[in-house]
Order: sequence, then C-alpha cells, then structure tokens
Amino acid sequence: MNFALSYHERSKHHLERYAPGPGGLDWNSQPDPFRRYAGAQVIELALLTGELPVSWDELCAAAAAPPQASTVDQVASLLQLSLGLSAWKSFGGNRWALRCNPSSGNLHPTEGYLICPALPGLPAGVYHYRPDQHCLEQRAAAPFAWPGGFLLALSGIHWREAWKYGMRAFRYCQHDCGHALAGLSYAAAMLGWPLRLLTDWGDDEIAAVIGLNRPDDFPSGEAEVPEAIVWIGAGEPPAAAQVQAALAGAPWSGLANLLSPEHRGWPDIPAVAAATRKPAGIRGQSAHSETLPALAPASMTPASVLIRRRRSAQAFDGVGSLSAPCFYRMLDALLPRAGLAPWSLCSAAPCVHPVLFVHRVDGLAPGIYCMPRTPAALAGLRAALRPDWLWARVPGCPQHLPLYLLAPLDTREFVATASCHQAIAADGVFTLGMLARFDDISPAQAWLYRERYWEAGMLGQVLYLEAEACGLQGTGIGCYFDDVVHRALGLDTGRFQDIYHFTVGLAMLDARLGSEAGYAHLERTRSAERCI
Ligand SMILES: Cc1cc2nc3c(=O)[nH]c(=O)nc-3n(C[C@H](O)[C@H](O)[C@H](O)COP(=O)(O)O)c2cc1C
Repeated sequence: MNFALSYHERSKHHLERYAPGPGGLDWNSQPDPFRRYAGAQVIELALLTGELPVSWDELCAAAAAPPQASTVDQVASLLQLSLGLSAWKSFGGNRWALRCNPSSGNLHPTEGYLICPALPGLPAGVYHYRPDQHCLEQRAAAPFAWPGGFLLALSGIHWREAWKYGMRAFRYCQHDCGHALAGLSYAAAMLGWPLRLLTDWGDDEIAAVIGLNRPDDFPSGEAEVPEAIVWIGAGEPPAAAQVQAALAGAPWSGLANLLSPEHRGWPDIPAVAAATRKPAGIRGQSAHSETLPALAPASMTPASVLIRRRRSAQAFDGVGSLSAPCFYRMLDALLPRAGLAPWSLCSAAPCVHPVLFVHRVDGLAPGIYCMPRTPAALAGLRAALRPDWLWARVPGCPQHLPLYLLAPLDTREFVATASCHQAIAADGVFTLGMLARFDDISPAQAWLYRERYWEAGMLGQVLYLEAEACGLQGTGIGCYFDDVVHRALGLDTGRFQDIYHFTVGLAMLDARLGSEAGYAHLERTRSAERCI
C-alpha cells in the first residue's frame, strides 16, 4: 500500500467535511512553542545591532555577498535572520511571539540544531537553537574538526501542529520545514555562505547526530523527528558516518522540556512519518538548470529589514492592484536559478508549479494562469489539466517567463470558497495553488512526499519576501478543499495534486494589536545585567 498517498487522501478537506481534527481547541494542552533542554550549557548569542549591508536586490543578483568569517557572531546572525523572533504582538492581555519563519497557526513545529567544529567563540559540538532566548544549548561536546563550514539540521515536533489541526498537521509540518530551509538559505547568502541540502543523509543519521535517538533525554515521550540537514560553507561536507564516529562516546547533556500536559494521539501522523522516512545513501538527481536572465530590480531595502518585517496578512483591501512588472518579477523569482538563494540549496528539478488565480494585475485579464517552472513540466501539466484550457502566452510577459493564460475568468468567489471560505484568497491581487508532481511518489521513495511540501514551502517563503519587497504582503494558506480545486482545474490527480495555496495583496493592518521588536525582552534583560 502507498501509505503516503493514502494519508494524503484521508487528510483532505472537503466542502462538506473537514479532515479529522480536534473539533475545538483545548487550551490546557496547548504545546509550548519553545523547546528547552534543562541542564544543557547555555551560550548566549549576540543580537544584530543594525542591518546587514546587503539589499534585497543584491541578495537576488547573481553576485553573492562577500563571504564572512564563520564566527559565533555571524552564526548568531544566520540563526536570528532565519529561525529567530521578529516581533511580539499583543491583544487583550495575550502576548505572542512571531518569527522570521512563518508557521501554520504560529505553532512552530520546526527546531534547529547546529553541528560545528570549533568556531571563534564556540567549542565544537552539537547545539540546539533556542529562538526565544537567542541562545544555543550545548547537547554534546565532540571533537569535530572538518574545515570549511558547518552543518545545520532541522527537526519537527508534529504534536505542536496536531494539537490544532489534527490529522492534516503532518502536511503543515513539512511546509514549515520548507519555509525554514528557504529562510536559512537567504540568511546564509546574506553572509556570503553557500548552503546546500545534504540529500544523501538518512533520517536516522540526522536523528543520531542531533540526539533525537536518545529516548532518555525526552522523558515526556513527545516525539521530535529529523527532517533535513544542510551544509553551510564553501568546503566539502563531512560524511554522515564521519560525524557519527566523532560523536561516539561524546558526553551529551540536557533533558527536553514537556510541551503539553496532555496529548491527543493522531495515529496517522506517526504512521505517515514512518512511511516517508528517508533511508541513508540516496543521492539526489541533479537537474540541468537553464540560464535565465537576471531578475528585474525590486527593492534596495536591506534584505534583513524585509526578513524581519515579513508578516502574514490577515486581511487585504480587495481594491488595490499590482503593476505587471512587479507581478512578473515575483513570478520570475520562483524560477530555479542555480546560483541564487533559495534555489541553490538543492539541485533537483522543480516538481511544484503554480496555478494562479489572478484578480487585479494591471494589464492582465483576471483569470486562471499556469507557470510550469521548467520547460519539461509544461507537457506534463498540459496533459494533466483540462484539455480545453487555452494555454495562451500572455502579451507583454517577459519572453523567458513561462506564464500561460488558461481561462479569462473572475475567480474571486471560487478561490475564496476553495480556500476554506477565507476572504483573503479573494481580496488579494492574486492567489495561487501549487501543483506538485505525485506520479513518482511510490512506496519505495515515499520521502518524496515530504520533499514536495518542502518545495512548496520554499515557494511560499520566496513569495512572502517578494511581496514585502514590492510593498505588499502575503499569506500562506494551508486550509483549502483539495478536490474542489482539482475538479475545477480538470486535474488528473494521479499525476499532480494541489499541495499549498498562497495569496498576495495590500494588507489591512489591525491597529488594535500591540507590537514590539522580536528581542525587546532580551535587550532589556541583557542591558540590565550589564548594569549590575
Ligand atoms: C504552511 C502554512 C499554512 C498557513 N495557512 C494559513 C491559512 O490557511 N490561513 C491564514 O490566515 N494563515 C495561514 N498561515 C499563516 C500563519 O497563520 C502565520 O504564518 C502565523 O500566524 C505566523 O505569522 P507570521 O507569518 O506573520 O509570522 C499559514 C502559514 C503557513 C506557513
């Protein structure tokens, strides 16, 4: 049986019935969004004191920023600008933190671990990153001595999402991992560091290296599972076996905190996690990528400003329109450019392609559009979608941008309904669905199911930041009625399925919300400590 596909089918929302979920929120069991390891040595990280001198346009140009030395302070900047806090919001006596990486329901299943040789200011070892305190917790001291870079692993705590979203939560955890990977890639590029996904590592190897295979360190029994590992730096990464050998006999410290006093089990989640576990030694196929023209300019604002300013819009004005050049630039940023963040992190051919519901873009007919992200995908998508779609080239669209009009149509009502009746999908300037290749997700390579979601999350992260760069905002939409979209598109679901929605528009801000900088609390306590 193909458990990944069976899980996918059963976690679909339908117009007449949502995927199995808790049916209400049990606030007593709300999971702690912050993992802590009691007893681990804590290394306080420096906070950014200004912006990094790299504009968004420079970050998106082929020329990389000059490489910075891998010091603990630069690693701190990397972590702050990818997984760190970016704001505190408050309303009616409640206060909550937001981060540079978005997360479904702001529940943040993704944790980050640094695995590094000795860096100026940091002994070699395995560290857990704590975004709330912007510090590292040392899990293991180890004699890692490889040159030229360090490893960073991501893990996922499914329960954090399942608490609110039930069975469908596994999908959101994968999206979140994709957003975090793209966030890391952008932050590394700002420091001039190449970053690449190590596709040959198996999940068990990642788990062993970050201590997730040590049940005694997780007395609560709350599962935290390995997701992905990246190499950051110009050198060659050590092999998984080399890292594990260096860890043999290493002293570990820290007991993981309890996230919730009570749990409701969603047995499909550990089952799909097990079915999609990645074995070791699978080499990713690297695809030939086309040479594309440079991206048109979008913004000279420092990239670190946009990254920390990025927010999910909660409502759009439903009126303003987007200029065609800005629209084309945003779509262009979704095309895989080999040397450019975040697409440089993985060399495999893109498997996720946007289908757009355009509402208000100057000079473009409202309607349904499709943008196959590779020339090879065009034929596959044409064959999988309704045979009578137009597939008309769009007048004025840059030659290299493979944007096709499928049907001129007012889709506002449709896409809002299809996106779980969310008005933001109709009120934005455009909303898109992400069609992921499904025909190769076989039981023998079921981990591809997770990787498709990561790719969708990466597309989402690009759109979030591109929207900020042109003065708009975006919102990821994980809640949609899968088959409603499939039926409307006449999609052969054996070949492709819609795995994520995203909407972009002019945000209406909620003036009732209080707002504070992400690390205002630390700046206060750290400066008070300095005064003592
Ligand atoms: C995978 C994913 C799915 C999301 N789905 C929705 C959604 O269906 N509706 C919505 O209003 N926001 C959605 N969001 C936005 C989150 O609620 C938002 O990221 C979170 O509240 C944190 O806020 P921030 O993005 O401003 O940091 C989604 C975000 C992600 C990453």
